[in-house]
Amino acid sequence: MSSIDKIKKEIIAATCANSDQLEAYRVRFISKKSVVGELFSQMRDVPAAEKKAYGQKINELKNLAQDKFQELIKSIDNHHTDVEQAPYDLTLPSTKGAPGSLHPITITRNRIIEIFEKVGFNVSDGPEIEDDWHNFTALNFPPNHPAREMQDTFFIEKNPDIALRTHTSSVQIRVMENQQPPIRTLCPGRVFRNEAISARAHCIFHQVEGFYINENVSFVDLKQTLFHFAKEMFGKDTKVRYRPSYFPFTEPSAEIDISCNICKGDGCNICKYTGWVEIAGSGMIDPNVLDNCGIDSEKYTGFAFGMGIERIAMLKWEINDLRLFTENDIRFLEQFKSL
Ligand code: PHE
Repeated sequence: MSSIDKIKKEIIAATCANSDQLEAYRVRFISKKSVVGELFSQMRDVPAAEKKAYGQKINELKNLAQDKFQELIKSIDNHHTDVEQAPYDLTLPSTKGAPGSLHPITITRNRIIEIFEKVGFNVSDGPEIEDDWHNFTALNFPPNHPAREMQDTFFIEKNPDIALRTHTSSVQIRVMENQQPPIRTLCPGRVFRNEAISARAHCIFHQVEGFYINENVSFVDLKQTLFHFAKEMFGKDTKVRYRPSYFPFTEPSAEIDISCNICKGDGCNICKYTGWVEIAGSGMIDPNVLDNCGIDSEKYTGFAFGMGIERIAMLKWEINDLRLFTENDIRFLEQFKSL
């Protein structure tokens, strides 16, 4: 009889917070082999005179255990939001998302800026939608000059004075209009030309324009600065050569070639078996351009250069199709993760 009372107290005091505890309760008080079930099997040892009272007690206990069980089931149902009851284990650490990476154009642009920053250049910015003055006229492209045709321009239909900039040289004008020498700056940005998209050309691409204006700036400064850049970007054995060229805004003008970093000058299909690849246009800023921007061309001289970021990236990593930069194929982009 005393163990019946003990079990009764235990049942009354029982609580449970989750299904495991509920199951433990069931095993202890409800199942055939539970302590209550055990009391039933002890019935046969009870003296005949006490059987009736004993039977009543253990039936009461059984009912109590079962009522309590129902109560406990209900209490658990009310605790659905319990962390342990949630269908997910909210305490687990989250699965890691695959980290992204910088786009190869961004990596290349940053590297170009880094190299020139170390020799005193800062970075300037300008609009992608330009007027004729900044994209052409101030850069010494007179109206109707055939050089305008070299750059297949996207004009705004209703206003031929407004166009998408065809080069970042427009930023050169904006900076010169607002600052006096010495000026040493880089203008990286997106440019637009009305060209059919192919492995070698795109209607949207990126350039970095750079220029330096001061007293006594000469072609030697241009050569040395670009030579330094080529070696930093492509390796210390890189050779540089300057080919005479023409731009309306520079005089003299030169195209800059570097020794092909892929075949090291031996000849391959990237350099079309010449051993040289073109990386930039350059020249001494035409005095007309300085005058157009209010800079005294009697006192100051300057050099300027402009390069395509895509082109530098293609040479650096042997990428043979320009379209890869805009397709956003993850298999391509993933290869630049470690950079
Ligand atoms: N703006 C020229 C181009 O887009 C490049 C250039 C810049 C050439 C500066 C000379 C000096 O082709």
